[in-house]
Amino acid sequence: MPDRKSICALPDLLISQIAAGEVIERPASVLKELVENAIDAGAQTIEIRLEAGGIRRIAVIDDGSGIPPNELALALTRHATSKISSLPELESVVSMGFRGEALASIAAVSKLTITSRTALAPHAWALTRHMAEPEAASGAVGTWVEVRDLFDDVPARRKFLRAEATELGHCVGTLERLALAFPDIGFRVFNGERAIKNWLPGSLLQRIDQILGESFVQDGLFIEDHTGLLRLTGMVSRPTASRPRADRQFLFVNGRHVRDRTISHALRSAYADVLHGDRQPAFVLFLEIEPNLVDVNVHPAKHEVRFRDSGAVHQFVQRTVSHVIAQGSVAFNDATPSQDQILTPAPFAQAELTHTSIPFQSRLTLSEPRTGDLKRISPAPTTPYASPLNAWIPAHAPLINDVNTEQPDWPLGRAVAQIHGVYILSQTHQGLALIDMHAAHERVVYEQLKTTLEDQTIPTQTLLVPVIMPASETEVALTQEHQASLEKIGFELSPAGPQSIAIRAIPALLAKGDLEALARGVLKDLADVGVSALLTEQRNTLLATMACHGAVRANRQLTLEEMNALLRQMEKTERADQCNHGRPTWVHWKMNDLDKLFLRGQ
Ligand SMILES: Nc1ncnc2c1ncn2[C@@H]1O[C@H](COP(=O)(O)OP(=O)(O)OP(=O)(O)O)[C@@H](O)[C@H]1O
Ligand SMILES: [Mg+2]
Repeated sequence: MPDRKSICALPDLLISQIAAGEVIERPASVLKELVENAIDAGAQTIEIRLEAGGIRRIAVIDDGSGIPPNELALALTRHATSKISSLPELESVVSMGFRGEALASIAAVSKLTITSRTALAPHAWALTRHMAEPEAASGAVGTWVEVRDLFDDVPARRKFLRAEATELGHCVGTLERLALAFPDIGFRVFNGERAIKNWLPGSLLQRIDQILGESFVQDGLFIEDHTGLLRLTGMVSRPTASRPRADRQFLFVNGRHVRDRTISHALRSAYADVLHGDRQPAFVLFLEIEPNLVDVNVHPAKHEVRFRDSGAVHQFVQRTVSHVIAQGSVAFNDATPSQDQILTPAPFAQAELTHTSIPFQSRLTLSEPRTGDLKRISPAPTTPYASPLNAWIPAHAPLINDVNTEQPDWPLGRAVAQIHGVYILSQTHQGLALIDMHAAHERVVYEQLKTTLEDQTIPTQTLLVPVIMPASETEVALTQEHQASLEKIGFELSPAGPQSIAIRAIPALLAKGDLEALARGVLKDLADVGVSALLTEQRNTLLATMACHGAVRANRQLTLEEMNALLRQMEKTERADQCNHGRPTWVHWKMNDLDKLFLRGQ
């Protein structure tokens, strides 16, 4: 046995250096802490000066409240903070900082100077770690923190720093996240002498535009919804604007950028049936929640939070986002949306979203709904068009001018012809649209199948002989805890021993699959987020296959009535603007787009 050493208290500096190890990983982490302090101090403009990507120098200059000279030394002391003073205050904290640790940690692994002046002070005061007293300095009201030579005294850390350009990239990423959360604060960023960013204060939309670019805003759908104690705002990309990588996903909980499994999972489920598995949505989302319903003190760098009721958060986010994706469907994808559009729902949002429950067979056929406007169209031919020319100009088709496209409730307009057996041409209120007949119908059928199934309880199939599967103690416990919610989704699972589970009944629709894998997947979902989205996803895959077989195939001649019926159904269908594989189902050109093609009015 090795010789035992006696227990000694560690010296202060070493304690701070150890603590810094958790929070200060690289220049970007220093920057995050300093900018968060400036935000907490009520700054309106924050200037950031970096040298060598922050490795040599990071300076953060704010115009916030400043620190009085007698508190400067405390600011650099561990566990000294002005932000909370009791446990209840920690539980309802709204500031970015609360541990009173950041400056002490940074000062332990760099050369740090803090210069600060409050509104009442005649001049500023500056303090460096080894100084006994602050000394008088020049400077405007606010705080200037200067950090040089990061990790020079901690070679082990220093070795992990990457090239200057990489560190600079991390710094800019950190600043983008902070700037998105605080659009009313201006940020100016310099690397060396070069100004690299200048984000003026403005609206959230302007900030998103500045940071993520115009194309994100153009392809984005606004989110603004709340329920009880939760509120979700921001923007998500249309499924047709998905990305190959998860590189544009910003999630903020009470203004703090976090990674969160519950919310990621909710978003994945919201996009599950409009995106191919490997495509990623882009989003900037802000979740606001009563501070005492979320624990922000779970990760050293505060990158994670814990919700008291993660099931409720999951459900709210998933519902809100799927609803917006669905509503976004038939609103024409205009150029940059105006601020008004953030608040007023797209024209289609008010349209009825109820689905009539039609027996399975007739749902696959197209019949014109009975509306008052029906009278206004002449009867369409009942026989298929004989010659290709007829397909273009059907003999009995109404004169285009007769077509009632004034009806603003019909964003997809009136069908006027079928093109090459594949597309429907329609005259809309503002121009013309082309609709991919098969893809659109597939979507309509799929959504109908889904709703019908959602309305009913899921049919269950009881197994003649229960399947006993080996399980972990955690899985056995989950089975017991979630028996009721499992039954709701068609499962009957029960503990069959300390390390085994009996599968007694399963959803009939999924009876053919690998039961053990399915049960395990569902239990894992329950453990992760408290609800099972897996089941919905699996069922939806099956429905998608069914819908594809049920939808009209290309080259089937449709009557005008059938075409119009499809358009009306699309308008009523959630997510009708893309097929089940995320491809668009229709495109629209406005009159001025067409005029441009013909150089009219130029
Ligand atoms: N830019 C600033 N303007 C005004 N006061 C500041 C500024 N930076 C730091 N302070 C003061 O110094 C204190 C210590 O800052 P520090 O970042 O170490 O801790 P904190 O922000 O309270 O908590 P955390 O460790 O979670 O960041 C703060 O509580 C605040 O009173
Ligand atoms: Mg802080």
